[in-house]
Amino acid sequence: MPHLRPFVSAVVRPIPVTTREQRIQELDRAGHNPFNLPSDKVSIDLLSDSGTGALSTDQQAWAQRADERYAGADSFFRFQEAVRDVVPYRHILPVHQGRAAERVLFTALLGPGRISVSNTHFDTTRANVELLGAHAIDLPCPQAQDLDSEEPFKGDIDLDALKDVLTGPDGPRVGQVLITITNNGGGGQPVSMGNLEAASALAREHGVPLILDAARFAENAWLVTRRDPAYAGWSPRDVARRAFELADGCVASLKKDGLSHEGGLIALHDGKVADECEVNVIATEGFRTYGGLTGHTLETLAQGLREVLDPNYLADREREAAFLADRAHAAGVATVRPSGLHGVYLNAGRLLPHLQPWQFPGHALACALYREGGIRCSELGSLYLGELDENNALVTPAPFELVRLALPRRVYDHGHLEYVAEVLADIAKHPEQVPGYRFVSAPPLLRHFRCVTAPITAS
Ligand SMILES: Cc1ncc(COP(=O)(O)O)c(C=O)c1O
Repeated sequence: MPHLRPFVSAVVRPIPVTTREQRIQELDRAGHNPFNLPSDKVSIDLLSDSGTGALSTDQQAWAQRADERYAGADSFFRFQEAVRDVVPYRHILPVHQGRAAERVLFTALLGPGRISVSNTHFDTTRANVELLGAHAIDLPCPQAQDLDSEEPFKGDIDLDALKDVLTGPDGPRVGQVLITITNNGGGGQPVSMGNLEAASALAREHGVPLILDAARFAENAWLVTRRDPAYAGWSPRDVARRAFELADGCVASLKKDGLSHEGGLIALHDGKVADECEVNVIATEGFRTYGGLTGHTLETLAQGLREVLDPNYLADREREAAFLADRAHAAGVATVRPSGLHGVYLNAGRLLPHLQPWQFPGHALACALYREGGIRCSELGSLYLGELDENNALVTPAPFELVRLALPRRVYDHGHLEYVAEVLADIAKHPEQVPGYRFVSAPPLLRHFRCVTAPITAS
């Protein structure tokens, strides 16, 4: 059956077209850090799928009906109803984005000396745990170690390791088990329902709340229907609801599967924890019925949440990601398998074997994609995750040297992805020409956002 894209463009934006010389200058000006590039010099922006999607005409129409009153606005109740349709918790608090939800909830559940255990903490999530003086432990499942295997659920948490932590000497210090769906830091891989059920049982047995970091709850649900025969006949909405039922609460960035440019969510069963969060939200985000968001955004989100679980939309997203991954393979660039939905993760370590981890192959490939094609993306490798000494020399490399090509929702079409694949193919013809990189400066926290680097030139 031929595939039909389930939407068309209703409004368009021209994209900048630059020369290679201009891009070389821009990279210099940006301290060779893609986060510092001005977007009017970026042709295809694959830096993030967060808040970067296109709105639907229905979202825009609902936004026109927004109620901007301070408390109890109609827009809040429409938002709450749309959330409750999937997230069956009593207490729903909007906040301005995902990391605000993390800060508020973790303040209630963690604190100095406490522990957060996860399949993988996303970068801001880890920072919010550590800023409280708590400790973040990642326990990805062993299958996640093999980037090439077609194992369907490489986002799972390692259940044996989780049990060891909960029953070991540190057990009483665990303040939350946090499962990230899908596992962004782990290559965008989904978490299986069996894994969630087992983690939920373990957490309950030890009296620890199970919290979902549910930024991509719809994409996880879709991949469950596609990869787990037991859920083949289920709708993505029913799978998502079941996943939330297994947990005690969630934090979510709604800039992904809320199909919005801003927004976040805390949702909880527990009234006491919710009460503590509400005070924090009122003090730092806004009253409990808007949490720092306009009525306009609450309406956009309500409609986004109604749209995001449409199987036609999710099937299309899967197909686009698979298309780019297949084209990368055809060009000789390995990607993390099986490909997920929100991004394609390139194996830069394998493409650039002449570069050692201390020369940051992932970062080198990200810079090359910008230089050669105006494509912006970021590395997920030793520059972001490696351990440095006091002179910013790499002492412990990251397990993998990856580059994430994040796919904004409903923005780029086949033609754009074809272009990305062609630029990648050109780089892959002469990988030895891609130079390595060194740090010029590297702040201790969140360094990939803020560092300055320079290419290593032959002396
Ligand atoms: C898994 C995950 N958790 C949390 C966040 C943070 O959300 P936000 O960017 O809305 O603060 C992100 C953002 O990319 C994410 O991917």
